Amino acid sequence: MDTETAHKLARRIMDEAADLTPAKTLELIDTYVAHNYSLLCREPILKAEGPWLYTKHRRIFDGVAAYSAANLGHGHPLVRETLKAFLGSHAPTVLGRFMADPYLALFGRKVCEMSGFESFLPANGGVEGPEAAIKLARRWAHAQGKKRPEILYANRCFHGRTLTVTQMFDLDEHAARDGFGPWPEGFKRIAYNDLRAVADAVNENTAAIIVEPIQGEGGINVPDEGYLRALIELGREHKFLVIFDEVQTGWARTGEMFAWMHEGPEARPDIMCIGKSVSGGFAPVGGILASRKLMDLFGPGSHGSTFGGCPISSCIAYAALCAIEEEKLVEQAQEKGEYVWQRLQEIAESAPRIKELRGKGMMFGIELTQDGPDGHHFSELLLEKGAILKDTHKWVLRFTPPIVARREDLDFVLGCIGQVFAGAAASA
Ligand SMILES: Cc1ncc(COP(=O)(O)O)c(C=O)c1O
Repeated sequence: MDTETAHKLARRIMDEAADLTPAKTLELIDTYVAHNYSLLCREPILKAEGPWLYTKHRRIFDGVAAYSAANLGHGHPLVRETLKAFLGSHAPTVLGRFMADPYLALFGRKVCEMSGFESFLPANGGVEGPEAAIKLARRWAHAQGKKRPEILYANRCFHGRTLTVTQMFDLDEHAARDGFGPWPEGFKRIAYNDLRAVADAVNENTAAIIVEPIQGEGGINVPDEGYLRALIELGREHKFLVIFDEVQTGWARTGEMFAWMHEGPEARPDIMCIGKSVSGGFAPVGGILASRKLMDLFGPGSHGSTFGGCPISSCIAYAALCAIEEEKLVEQAQEKGEYVWQRLQEIAESAPRIKELRGKGMMFGIELTQDGPDGHHFSELLLEKGAILKDTHKWVLRFTPPIVARREDLDFVLGCIGQVFAGAAASA
């Protein structure tokens, strides 16, 4: 196809999307797309910038930052400009991984430098991290002579939705679990934030434990100070690996580059899973980090994916990591997190429906009392006011705003939260 024709057709594609009415958009999604998500917001989002999402008629504050994929806000200018330049350069967007790619080289170095790990395995999106980490831990365990390697995981965890990790959903999570068995073998559930439970579960076949340093989907559950460090110590003592899934907590979300860093360098895991904001929200990118020695258990042919680490993803992710540094996102999360925490506490003081506030940095959970409408109802009220906060586990509202949101943006969303809870108190 010649460039002129492509230009014309591309324009047509863009116009087609812009001209779809809200009703037609919903109809097409309903007709042609799997019904594995229910829509909270039924107004098509046409534009996004920073913490704001734009429909045809209004703007909405993205208080979940696309599940922490948009820590840098939507459409960060550095990533956008790099992407434009990349496309303008006619660099290949995809290549067989048997070919050398300068963007993967730069991304690999950057992700290792920023995390302090020696080696990176790129993947597409979050769930491929836990999958790869479990494979690597099993291979390591076999090499140690553990005949039937076992992976420990925590109740209330969330590591994605492939078959291996689907069994990790709690037994009462019927929509997530039911009808998907039989489950892969070699996994054992333990209580989160309970070191005794780990010590009791460990045996000579234990290969690894996988935990989120703060549970996101599970309700923003923050473990006791020292829990992560103690897991590492137990791992050393009983010869198993520790995997921290930082897919949601990583990249400054909690006020450190990675959440385990709150507990100091001794809390460094053997394997770390990353995803979401590693690409600034521009592409599905993820992966795992480990020592060179451990990662070398993945030799050629042992693991891989067509798009994992492809040039366009690597270029985007490299730019996003540069943006995270340039923006001093960790410091921003610390400062803004303190402000938001203080304001939420003020709101909670006169909100009988708020049972507990939890969180760290810019990751907050608002747990509701169970004597009235549930979290979904509050999400709907907040959306009416112009803010998205998503319920999880029915009674917790998750609030993880883009870290780059300015004070006035945060004041807007905090105002919405305050009004909704004041309304709930008045109607009680
Ligand atoms: C801790 C954690 N791990 C893994 C995943 C899976 O990521 P993805 O949905 O990109 O596959 C998520 C997604 O929310 C997550 O929060």
